[in-house]
Amino acid sequence: MTRRRRTIGRPRLTRRELLTAAFGGAALLAGAAGGTRGTGRLFGVPAVLAASTQPVKLGVLLPYSKVYQQLGEDITSGMELYLASAGWKAGGRRITLIKEDEDIDPQVALRKARKLIESDSVDLMTGLVSSASALAIRDLVHATKTVLVISNAGANAVTRARRSPYIFRASFSNWQTGYPIGKWFYENVARSCVAGAADYAAGHEDINAFKDSYLAAGGRVAAEVYPPLNNTDYAPYIAQMQRAKPEAIFVFFAGSDAVRFVTQAAQYGLTKDARLAGPGFLVEEDVLPAQGRTAFGAYSCLHWALTLQRPENLAFARAYRARWKREATVYAMQGYDAARVIVEALTAAGGDTSGDKAKLIEAMAAVRFASPRGAFAFDPDTHNVVQEVYLRQVRDVGRTLHNVVFASLGVFRDPG
Ligand code: PHB
Repeated sequence: MTRRRRTIGRPRLTRRELLTAAFGGAALLAGAAGGTRGTGRLFGVPAVLAASTQPVKLGVLLPYSKVYQQLGEDITSGMELYLASAGWKAGGRRITLIKEDEDIDPQVALRKARKLIESDSVDLMTGLVSSASALAIRDLVHATKTVLVISNAGANAVTRARRSPYIFRASFSNWQTGYPIGKWFYENVARSCVAGAADYAAGHEDINAFKDSYLAAGGRVAAEVYPPLNNTDYAPYIAQMQRAKPEAIFVFFAGSDAVRFVTQAAQYGLTKDARLAGPGFLVEEDVLPAQGRTAFGAYSCLHWALTLQRPENLAFARAYRARWKREATVYAMQGYDAARVIVEALTAAGGDTSGDKAKLIEAMAAVRFASPRGAFAFDPDTHNVVQEVYLRQVRDVGRTLHNVVFASLGVFRDPG
């Protein structure tokens, strides 16, 4: 454990790598300005200092199109709300954003990440909604020593076998959104169910995590159905589920997929006979207005809910509503917290994003605060967030539907 902690916390670099990383960028800058003649000074200011007074360029890679477009918009709104509260400054430097569309194609995400890192020379990166894009850009981020704060994508490997000292996850691992509910679901909802998910990394990881606890408790999964991501017509998949005559269905869908699946499941009568449940993205506040009564009664688990009665959450939800004229969502909260992690780490590191990033990484690993979701801290071994997970149900709250928290499942640390 101690050995692993050292590996993740302090990247081991050769002397040559250290010198290049620390002085390469600054020397180039000084050279381009001319007249420094190898003095390492730029207009009388040591080049390293001059670099650190430049604005921090924060590369933002999020979906601004297709199935996860709203998720990208919400994360951005949450992030901008926090950055505005910090005056768009941290560690004595101004913060500027360079945004790129992650799309749903991991190869597009990789190309955009390369552009942000290599052409825009961003100081840090944040974002990523899709597990597939997180997996696709992991090696590039690691090799270029780019500090990345993930604000959604749950791909387990990114904080397990393929973890990196440069990667932090302020959102969740897919395991954290599937495993916690399995035992409760067996004991309280159904002894047997049908599982389903969008057919890509996140969908499979969520269902596998759910099955780990559900099967161990004694549950039976009668069928598994995997429609493609960014799908429109769920009729054939719903028919497949209906053939198993399920008491309940446990499904992972998000964004426009969640709207279409849940409304069509009601339209074809699947959820008339079967209880609806899944990781909370399925009926989260971004999709609930479009789903309306078709989502009524759905059970889910998640690390946040709009109705969570914590002072930090009430303040966050109020500020978000005032700024953006819509309700906050789990994605907005994750963007808000990711921005806070970045601001607090930059502040503690005195704005230093240079060199081997050791100072910034150390500061980031130590960030902890009372988040709208509850206590926020990174697991020092994996850099994945450790957090409480809640049980929620879609109920009437006044004249609208919301996810109401009715129990806590406890604090979950990804097994790593
Ligand atoms: C993921 O791909 O990791 C993912 C996407 C959307 C969600 C949750 C997880 O709502």
